[in-house]
Amino acid sequence: MKLARFLLFFALTAAVAHAEDTRPLAPLPPAAQESLRQEMLENLAALNEVLTLVGSGKLAEAGEVAEAQLGVSSMGKHRAKPMDARPGPHMPPAMHGIGMDGHKAVSEFAAAAKAGERDRAIALLPNLTGACVGCHYSYRTR
Ligand code: HEC
Repeated sequence: MKLARFLLFFALTAAVAHAEDTRPLAPLPPAAQESLRQEMLENLAALNEVLTLVGSGKLAEAGEVAEAQLGVSSMGKHRAKPMDARPGPHMPPAMHGIGMDGHKAVSEFAAAAKAGERDRAIALLPNLTGACVGCHYSYRTR
């Protein structure tokens, strides 16, 4: 009985500790948040497409898609929008830096893939997801 109560207490405190979000808040205007959310969904779809192409041996095509959708070539998507709808300028500089480094890392993968350097491209696959994880673990927007 005592043990059961202790276990229940432990489970509850563990759940509370888990629910606490200690990531710093990056306050973006609502319009910028919406632009970012849309871009993120596109990122997720692009990532899936690139992995599917790699898995089916279409390495050069994977490189093309990665560069166009996630690499340096994909930067500046929001440039033509009003300032409050552009996520980048409202991000803390370190957060923005994670994003830009992520685009560069993807381009490194893309170059290897387009050149048909299979081993190198496979070794660089984590470049596709490193910044996603880095940014999501470091910041929240709400
Ligand atoms: C520079 C920071 C940053 C990087 C890099 C980043 N994200 Fe995000 N992501 C965010 C933020 C901030 C949100 C929350 C947006 C919001 O307020 O709804 C988000 C939200 C998302 C969402 C949820 C979208 C929704 O419907 O609410 C997905 C999916 C996502 N990101 C995927 C990715 C993928 C895949 C990558 C890498 C290719 C990536 N993100 C890279 C910052 C980032």
